[in-house]
Amino acid sequence: MIKLSPRLRTVAELAGAGGSVIDVGTDHGYVPVYFAKLGLFSRIAASDIGALPLQSAKNSAREHGVEDKIEFYLSDGLKSVAGPFDTVVVAGMGGETMVDIISDCSWVKTSRLILQPQSKLPGLSGWLDENGFTCRRARLVEDGGKLYAAFCSERGEGGFDLMDTLLKGRDPLLEKCLAREKNRLLRALEGMEKGGKRGSAEYDKLRRELEAVNMGIAEVEKWQK
Ligand SMILES: C[S@@+](CC[C@H](N)C(=O)[O-])C[C@H]1O[C@@H](n2cnc3c(N)ncnc32)[C@H](O)[C@@H]1O
Repeated sequence: MIKLSPRLRTVAELAGAGGSVIDVGTDHGYVPVYFAKLGLFSRIAASDIGALPLQSAKNSAREHGVEDKIEFYLSDGLKSVAGPFDTVVVAGMGGETMVDIISDCSWVKTSRLILQPQSKLPGLSGWLDENGFTCRRARLVEDGGKLYAAFCSERGEGGFDLMDTLLKGRDPLLEKCLAREKNRLLRALEGMEKGGKRGSAEYDKLRRELEAVNMGIAEVEKWQK
């Protein structure tokens, strides 16, 4: 059986089972191979923009005896993929690339998105919120000393609010994550102040992010009382 890293296991758990699934930017192909080994979905696909990573995914599938259970697509995002898919997994990429992939595809608006961005989370969250997506479930996971957020997003009412979903779920890693984020933002703001950028649009954006983080920290403190 294929053993997933904590990060990829969290992604796979959020994806769950049932219907069709595609893993976009699959690289090694561990997630679709895991789905195929367990027979979790009736249709499983894997795509990548690079021929080498896609070959690596095919090799993983062959090693685990599931090559014939997975469709492989060489594709920039979902452009050359035979969709729709009920569940679209995009993990381990920057938030900006994820926005490009999702916004370029019309049928993805009816899919469940399982997203695990490596960076640029505020931009991705903003795009999801503005485009009618909501955050159904979210998890934080620690892997190799790093903290990652992974979530399930679908079209729906209420807007996209990752922090609120993590707070409602009382995620056990939220306190640690917010403390790290606060440090990062304070260091970035200090650097901007030293560089004479206090009051710039970027500075104000970081201040707003810090305010949201501080509100989250105050909420977490309430649970602990
Ligand atoms: C860091 S790897 C992540 C692999 C895997 N999803 C994971 O989370 O471990 C990123 C992969 O995304 C692929 N990729 C980057 N941009 C892409 C795009 N626009 N469409 C499809 N794949 C893309 C890269 O070729 C690479 O294989």
